[in-house]
Amino acid sequence: MNLYNSIEQRKSSRKYIMQPLEKEIIDEMENAIKTFKPLYSSLPLGYRFVEKTKGLFKVEAPHYLIISGQGKNGEMEQAGFIFEQLVLWLDAKEIGSVWLGSAKDRDKSNANHDIITLAFGRTMESVHRTKSEFIRKPISEVTNAPNDLCIQSAHLAPSGINIQPWYFEKVAEQVLVYQQKLKPPISLLYRLSDLDMGIALCHYALACEKTEKAFVFNRNSKMQNKSGFVPFGIIE
Ligand SMILES: Cc1cc2nc3c(=O)[nH]c(=O)nc-3n(C[C@H](O)[C@H](O)[C@H](O)COP(=O)(O)O)c2cc1C
Repeated sequence: MNLYNSIEQRKSSRKYIMQPLEKEIIDEMENAIKTFKPLYSSLPLGYRFVEKTKGLFKVEAPHYLIISGQGKNGEMEQAGFIFEQLVLWLDAKEIGSVWLGSAKDRDKSNANHDIITLAFGRTMESVHRTKSEFIRKPISEVTNAPNDLCIQSAHLAPSGINIQPWYFEKVAEQVLVYQQKLKPPISLLYRLSDLDMGIALCHYALACEKTEKAFVFNRNSKMQNKSGFVPFGIIE
């Protein structure tokens, strides 16, 4: 499955046909999840399908997938990196999806290590859009290398409340990845920007694969400081 092509056409879908997907598609989806590359090799995540969720900014959908961890460092960006591949896989199959930051499992009270919910299903309108319909910051605000294809792909990544909290600074053969410092009130309400970083790195990595470039990412907080940002990691 070519996930890269979906980067330039995917959009969040919020109007679903409530009829469940066929079991074959769910099986295919689970097989696909097993093939998705992780950002970190030894940080397993779990997932489960649920039919009902509760919480703010919820979208009614026939299916929800809840991604969970064990409370370890790095699980947020790992979740964004792995499951954005699912978002793109669904797009390629003409199935819509949307990340839901506040939707929780309605039937499970002890779900402390749940990380994020993904709603998905067939939609009332097209799951695609054209590149010109993406609403994003000007690329010059998120990188010093706007002509780099991998960074252009990261630029199209979805993020909670469309914050796009990333900055990619190309320095010789490395790309220093920074995460925007959020200010109140957003910083008090929004805690998923590590997950956003994982999503953007997923797009970056898929573009590397497309152009036959290696993608090696290491979390690193000892980089040069950058005003308004915190160091996140380095792409070699
Ligand atoms: C971590 C995360 C949490 C999100 N939470 C919600 C949500 O609770 N409700 C919602 O309608 N959209 C949610 N979104 C979707 C974003 O609003 C959307 O990705 C962003 O506005 C960019 O639009 P696009 O996905 O169509 O490119 C979330 C996205 C991410 C990545």
